[in-house]
Amino acid sequence: MAFKKNILCIGAGYVGGPTMAMIAYKCPQHKITVVDINPERIAQWNSDNLPIFEPGLDEIVRAVRGKNLFFSTEVEKSINAADIIFVSVNTPTKTFGVGAGMAADLQYWEKTARQIVKCSDSPKIIVEKSTLPVKTALAMERILISNKSDFHFDVLSNPEFLAEGTAINDLENPDRVLIGSRLTESGLKARNELVDIYANWVPEDQIITSDIWSSELSKLVANAFLAQRISSINAISALCEQTDADITNVARAVGVDSRIGNKFLNASVGFGGSCFKKDILNLVYICRHYGLNEVADYWESVIKINHYQKERFVTNMLGAMFNSLAGKKIALLGFAFKADTGDTRESPAIYIAERLVEERAELIISDPKAIDNAKTDLKHLNNKIKYIEDPYAATDECHAIAIMTEWDLYRTLDYQKIYNSMIKPCFIFDGRNVIEHKRLFEIGFNVYPIGKPAMTHFEHS
Ligand code: UDX
Ligand code: UDX
Repeated sequence: MAFKKNILCIGAGYVGGPTMAMIAYKCPQHKITVVDINPERIAQWNSDNLPIFEPGLDEIVRAVRGKNLFFSTEVEKSINAADIIFVSVNTPTKTFGVGAGMAADLQYWEKTARQIVKCSDSPKIIVEKSTLPVKTALAMERILISNKSDFHFDVLSNPEFLAEGTAINDLENPDRVLIGSRLTESGLKARNELVDIYANWVPEDQIITSDIWSSELSKLVANAFLAQRISSINAISALCEQTDADITNVARAVGVDSRIGNKFLNASVGFGGSCFKKDILNLVYICRHYGLNEVADYWESVIKINHYQKERFVTNMLGAMFNSLAGKKIALLGFAFKADTGDTRESPAIYIAERLVEERAELIISDPKAIDNAKTDLKHLNNKIKYIEDPYAATDECHAIAIMTEWDLYRTLDYQKIYNSMIKPCFIFDGRNVIEHKRLFEIGFNVYPIGKPAMTHFEHS
């Protein structure tokens, strides 16, 4: 069968891989090729052992791979055949030079733009899928246009809002698809082509179009608002712990107000993930660039509270366990930055683990999907940490447990059995409020939730 369009995606990561799998699944009339400079990643995408764990992803990839979805390392060869090129390479926080620790590092982006221009001999639509600072499309256009004047490239912004762990559902039933373009005749035509692709499964009133700068900025702002909600509830969790109020009750009472809404109000040990911190830093950097220091300070405080929440968790552990963790065995249950993913990027567990080792605790790390990533994240400490996937073996003869990730598994463990195998007095610090605190207290644990009074068997707590 001849395909209608050739769609290429450069960057086979958490965003590029699942997004293209969904487009292929919903658009059998188009051929989708996903390329990456990392041959191991591509080999994994072509195997039964995909490089990322995402519920439902295996089934979709299996249904379309080899039919209209192809994974390859041939970046340059694939470019010229494509009508539409999604760019989904990573845009990490810069680690050097001007803007180090704040601004986005756009070197992979720029390199990709130059590669596209070098390998193209026909007009193409270039789609920014990666999250980028506002006005990146302008730089992209300048690179493309100054190198090729005989035909035209249109640059669109189409940020991805999927969350890890729910990527397939988010892609299949998105709240919205956002497409930004230049408002020129050619820009609008390109935008319509992309609308037509999503319209294969997304209702048209959920496909929002806008100018390109608003689209780029909206992605940063959406992530900043989401992170801000978590920092807001986490800030209040600290106050709850001091005042015997219960954060779950507060969140419920506040969240039923339809103007506020009840989602994303779970107090936690802190937010992680590859996007929130990076995108807020990026927003803060842009604001400072334009001299908007008050605006920058406002958004920066979201990150400061997140750091405070992680540090507060460690200080609470230390205070509860008689101000000394040296030589004590502590099991971290969960290492992924959230449930249903093996991803550990910016996971709060990384910071907590480092701090606990600094206090000379003996750490055991357990997680159903993230042990390999944990080993890489903590390789500088690996001789001080044990990794045991089975939660019963991990907690055996421990002084304390700290829950880092809200895996369902941790709700239903046999905590009586765990209690029996631990050293007394037993402590459990629930960084995700996932266990039944009263029941565990009745078993004999001293229980320390987030944003709720601690339940201890000590006379003066
Ligand atoms: C990335 C960005 O980090 C994020 O800002 C954006 O919203 C979407 O793309 P993610 O997919 O999670 O997110 O990143 P990652 O899993 O690191 O994937 C990027 C892929 O691009 C990697 O597989 C990398 O090998 C590849 N890449 C990078 C290239 O193919 N070419 C390059 O020049 C650089
Ligand atoms: C986020 C955005 O949700 C998504 O739209 C964007 O495309 C990428 O960034 P992701 O980082 O995959 O997605 O996961 P998300 O579900 O947003 O969780 C981020 C962090 O916040 C996790 O560490 C999670 O545990 C934490 N979180 C989330 C809370 O602590 N409390 C909550 O109520 C919700």
